[in-house]
Amino acid sequence: MKGIVLAGGSGTRLYPITLTTSKQLLPLYDKPMIYYPLSILFEADIREIVIISTPKHIDLYKELLGTGEDFGVKFYYVIQQEPRGIAEAFLISEDYIKEENVALILGDNVFYGDIIYDIIEKGKKIKEGALISAYYVKDPQRYGIVEFDKEGKPSKIVEKPKNPKSNYAVMGLYFYDKNVIYYAKELKPSQRGELEITDLNNIYLEEGKLNVIKIDKGLAWLDTGTPSSLLEAANFIETIQNRQGLMIAALEEIAYLKGFITLEKLKERAKYFENSEYGKYLLRRIKEFENEI
Ligand code: TTP
Repeated sequence: MKGIVLAGGSGTRLYPITLTTSKQLLPLYDKPMIYYPLSILFEADIREIVIISTPKHIDLYKELLGTGEDFGVKFYYVIQQEPRGIAEAFLISEDYIKEENVALILGDNVFYGDIIYDIIEKGKKIKEGALISAYYVKDPQRYGIVEFDKEGKPSKIVEKPKNPKSNYAVMGLYFYDKNVIYYAKELKPSQRGELEITDLNNIYLEEGKLNVIKIDKGLAWLDTGTPSSLLEAANFIETIQNRQGLMIAALEEIAYLKGFITLEKLKERAKYFENSEYGKYLLRRIKEFENEI
């Protein structure tokens, strides 16, 4: 399975912060935002990842993340010329995805909680079709919303409904079979001029091939597109990390625990960052790992 992180867009809701930089490079407490969605793909054992961003910002991602060697993965960088919609991700990364299943994650989405591992396991196992998750939210007008029929089966997904028929919003982590590129090519731009991920999901739904996991309590799904949601997400991360002394989305730590990199490589990275809390954390974890061995 291949992975895609979508780190383009315009970030207009964060203007003027995002006038000169990319939203997904902004700090989310102690790490660049893109670390969080990347950590989810690492957890899913995905080691070939396409990072999509704008012509203006793609080089910053290359500088931040490199070839992927530091994490024992391979990163490919793809430019999205204009923010023409989330579903365009499949068209512009076709050469890298080829005939494989693919997980797409939005670069400004943060997930925290054990349920995410269940979703990942189910997503990895799909042979045919797609898998998305629908999360109970209080403000459904802002999201793609899953409607359910009388038997509780998903019947339709509606983008930003004025009169929402449910509170279940589609989260920014999607799993698709290898037909996704074929279906994405059938999409027409919506009224707002975008290739909509909702339209793509509706194609799978109409074909009877869309699995929807409904999520009520037990998972934190945070998005970071506005100043207050950005601050809330940062505070959430600080709270959890301070309580436990364990970091969320420390990429090298995950890469080591997943067996992507050696302890030597982890030490090299920790040393490189030793002045920061991030580096000190990695050094502390290395000691713990060495005592466990
Ligand atoms: P949005 O938050 O919907 O859009 P945005 O990031 O451009 O922000 P704003 O609404 O403030 O202008 O996008 C969700 C995610 O998908 C975000 O990580 C950016 C990414 N994205 C792309 O990479 N390309 C696109 O064409 C679109 C629409 C979004």
